[in-house]
Amino acid sequence: MIDQTRLWDEQAAAEYDTPGEGMFAPEVLGPTVEVLAELAAGGRALELAVGTGRVAIELTEAGVDVTGIELSGAMIARLRQKIGPEDLPVIEGDMTTASAGEGFSLAYLVFNTISNLLSQEQQVECFRNAARHLAPGGCFVIELWVPQLRALAPGHGGTVEVSEPGYLLVDTIDTLAQHLVSHHVRFDPAVDGARGARIGRTPHRYIWPSELDLMAQLAGFTLESRWADWDRSEFTAESRSHVSVYRLAP
Ligand SMILES: C[S@@+](CC[C@H](N)C(=O)[O-])C[C@H]1O[C@@H](n2cnc3c(N)ncnc32)[C@H](O)[C@@H]1O
Repeated sequence: MIDQTRLWDEQAAAEYDTPGEGMFAPEVLGPTVEVLAELAAGGRALELAVGTGRVAIELTEAGVDVTGIELSGAMIARLRQKIGPEDLPVIEGDMTTASAGEGFSLAYLVFNTISNLLSQEQQVECFRNAARHLAPGGCFVIELWVPQLRALAPGHGGTVEVSEPGYLLVDTIDTLAQHLVSHHVRFDPAVDGARGARIGRTPHRYIWPSELDLMAQLAGFTLESRWADWDRSEFTAESRSHVSVYRLAP
């Protein structure tokens, strides 16, 4: 089994934040925080796999009381350079088992991170752990990509997801195990002159929306909403990603 703490090490933590750009751009974070603040409905929020606090810090600044769970000490150390434990407590541990208390009105797991759990059992346990933290009627929000198996040509084991100057993203896909490895190739002359590149690999277990709904059901949740994005746009057969809101019975 691949050790996630080795993937999310000091180097990954140091390179994670891109203030104002990419996943840190205001047009990404603004709608995310708006939806989450509304779903917290005045109660406390729990971010599973809080990372360096990309979302949690902004949600805290929007007036929501947020707690995090995070496996990687390096990611937590980076978060701590930005906010103290009195304003954003973080439990170091595995999101399938770690406890940060109970009575939360909202739990959320964004940026495809449920796919970092590499077995179906772990993914179901993650739902169950979210449920243990929530008050009756509480909700669990998941942001996750839709597997793009239609892009896999017959006889090919992978797809090129991004091809732009200086960067390639190649996904290799094992359809039997439902595993996907993203290969991030960054051209970098500092590595080996003109031929040089740095390659980072991240393993995932991909999940169909219908399978995700069944995992939720096993943990006592019902699907309340599914949008294509945080702007609540309609989820269609062409959507490449979704934001799904699951709710416990009151
Ligand atoms: C893509 S980052 C997302 C961080 C943050 N949620 C965000 O949106 O920026 C994935 C994070 O998941 C964490 N992670 C991976 N497996 C985990 C697990 N089993 N329990 C808790 N955190 C985990 C990693 O350490 C990393 O910080």
